[in-house]
Order: sequence, then C-alpha cells, then structure tokens
Amino acid sequence: MGHAVWCARDLVAGEPFAVLLPDDLFHCKVPCLKQMVDEYPKTAGNLVAVEDVPQDQTSRYGILSIATDDGKLIRVNGMVEKPSIQDAPSCSAIVGRYILSPEIFSELDKQKTGAKGEIQLTDAMAATLDRVPFHGMRFQGKRFDCGNKIGFLMANIEYALDRADISEEF
Ligand code: G1P
Repeated sequence: MGHAVWCARDLVAGEPFAVLLPDDLFHCKVPCLKQMVDEYPKTAGNLVAVEDVPQDQTSRYGILSIATDDGKLIRVNGMVEKPSIQDAPSCSAIVGRYILSPEIFSELDKQKTGAKGEIQLTDAMAATLDRVPFHGMRFQGKRFDCGNKIGFLMANIEYALDRADISEEF
C-alpha cells in the first residue's frame, strides 16, 4: 500500500491528499471522508479514520498508540502495523480513509519494507510522527470490511435493507 501511494506522488505534489481503500465500505449519513475534511482544520498533518476493534483482531490492522483521546479525536504518538494481541498498543484500528500530508513521500521514497515484507503506509506515517501531527478520528456510521467474505455479505444485507425500493421484498 505504501508503494501504491508513492506511485501517486506526482499527482498530489505538495498538497494534503486523501487515500480511500475501496475494500473498506463506509455506510454513513455524512460520508466518512467528509466528516474527516470537516475535522481537518483542527488537526492538520495526518488524519486517519478509526474504529475500535475486538482484541483478537488487532493483527488485521494498523493499531494506534494513544496520547490523548476525547472520544472522537485521538492524538497519536505511535502505531504498529498488524500487531499480535500482546504487542498491540490499543484496540483502536486505522480503517480505510486517510488524509495525509505530502511529507509522507520523504519516507515512502526510501522504499523500506516492513510487516509481511511490504512497503507499509503505516510505517511511513509512523516515521513522520516527530514532525507531522497525527490524529485518528472515530467516524459516525458503520464500516464493512469487504476484503473478507463475512464483511462482504454483511454489507450486501445492510445496503439492501436500507433501500426503499427493495428492502421489503428482500
Ligand atoms: C491496510 C493497512 C492497515 C489498515 C487496513 C484497514 O491493511 O495496511 O494499516 O488498518 O488497511 O482496512 P490491508 O487491509 O491492506 O491488509
């Protein structure tokens, strides 16, 4: 994922930009990214969407180490990509919406590999913590992890039940 973002460096040159992971589907009254854009003037730097996940699922996500937490905004002082339960600094997971400062490219340029031998966006974000403010935001709404079968099936049910034209028959 770090490499994929790095490939877009010329397009975003010098400006904050959004990253949307399409296998994370957000079902929200106000779109998740819009919620983040509204919050961004308070945080600047890097801002990621956050969901609190069960302890036994930390190894699926980037997990935040929390400095302060007002219930919505989390000031972050560290993060680990896909930690085991024992190594997870919290249960607050990064989920698929990011607003990133272009400073990230100074790290992605190094093409350093991390967890699973991949160039991890989480590692690049962690490496800029000393100079770029980093916050997580708990969004209002539901997220479906369509990268796994159950998440994909749950999303289909949720969206079908929410549609006036088919919900009754469904
Ligand atoms: C990616 C990121 C991870 C993040 C997750 C959210 O992992 O590397 O930090 O928590 O997306 O869905 P992937 O789902 O590509 O394994």
